[in-house]
Amino acid sequence: MTKVYLGVVPSALVVIGLSLCAGIALRCTAWRAATAFAREPDKPADDTPKMAEQQFKNIQALKGVPAEQLVPTMQFISASLGVECDFCHVDRQMDKDDKKEKQTARKMIAMQLAINRASFDGKVQVTCHTCHRGSAHPVGTPILSADAGGPHSQQESSEAHANLPGSDQVLDKYVVSVGGADVLKKIKTRKEKGTMEVSGQQFPIEVYCEAPDKRVSISQIRNGRSVTAFNGEVGWLTMGNRVHRMSTPEREAARVDAEMYFPVRVREMYEEFQVLPGESLEGHATMVVAASGPGQPPLRLYFDQGNGLLSRLVRYTETPLGRVPTQIDLPITGRLTG
Ligand code: HEC
Ligand code: HEC
Repeated sequence: MTKVYLGVVPSALVVIGLSLCAGIALRCTAWRAATAFAREPDKPADDTPKMAEQQFKNIQALKGVPAEQLVPTMQFISASLGVECDFCHVDRQMDKDDKKEKQTARKMIAMQLAINRASFDGKVQVTCHTCHRGSAHPVGTPILSADAGGPHSQQESSEAHANLPGSDQVLDKYVVSVGGADVLKKIKTRKEKGTMEVSGQQFPIEVYCEAPDKRVSISQIRNGRSVTAFNGEVGWLTMGNRVHRMSTPEREAARVDAEMYFPVRVREMYEEFQVLPGESLEGHATMVVAASGPGQPPLRLYFDQGNGLLSRLVRYTETPLGRVPTQIDLPITGRLTG
């Protein structure tokens, strides 16, 4: 899973929850460069979506998957096994079958598709992660350990539910906590700084947003700079020397991050909201609002029970093999500075 820890930038005029900091007209070079990059290129005359096998050289197991979904699918595989691309691929030659791991993975893809077809009406139920759980070597034997305790007792969880407020109350308090809808709507740009954690390694990340829904993030990762840009409609991400155009599910996920007026807009973006008990984050009790809608991957919002602000957001990107989670943590302190 990708984890992002965002903090506010000290020079901000108004800082509100969701680490929505800003107010300052942010016109830095990075933003200009990145938005130029995010402009929609001239569309080719033929706009039929390509299949993976048409765009890539050596597709056998993932035939029929839209080409734009191939890279997100690879990210899902990597996250499920807790590995990097080079676990299966030789550098820059993704089509080569030199590594045994890639060949095994191809059999595993076929196995997953077959299991889901045969036992789950073709729904994506069993995934790489069902067995692998972040390791290349799934454990087939039950583990005996003190902390492997079962789920909470019935009574405990129903009591916890009974004391929870309704979702409207939680979301109303959120809007009030960030300063109210009117103050929020005055903010046109926002800059955030933080750390991104991918497979246990941390990298600095900077985020620039422009109302209502444009966003660019720049992070320094191992092999250079990685830029993600979303202009409200389409988006791109760079990976090494390559540029990947966001797939439809990646765009839906990017929209959640890019939404400047998220505290107000979240109610329009999803249809159903359920409040659940949340775990304590940095010593602060939280509750979770689980948001969902038809055809949308779920969204989990962790609210601080004290100040009502959002402290964690977990969203998912749908791929043909499973959902890729992204967790965004917002700072406990520093949400309200002058
Ligand atoms: C666990 C093994 C595994 C990992 C990790 C993995 N891949 Fe793959 N990758 C595969 C397999 C298997 C295929 C071939 C799929 C098929 O036959 O349909 C493939 C195919 C590809 C292709 C198509 C190449 C071509 O031209 O045929 C690209 C591009 C690719 N992977 C990129 C990535 C990237 C980027 C990452 C890291 C985010 C990654 N892969 C991680 C197993 C892996
Ligand atoms: C039903 C359970 C199950 C599912 C689902 C599953 N795997 Fe596996 N996988 C295993 C087992 C068991 C092994 C053998 C583990 C070992 O060698 O220690 C394995 C081994 C592998 C290996 C070889 C690891 C190595 O170090 O050689 C790769 C690569 C792999 N799986 C990829 C995948 C991918 C990609 C997916 C999803 C498309 C997937 N697996 C789904 C059970 C599963």
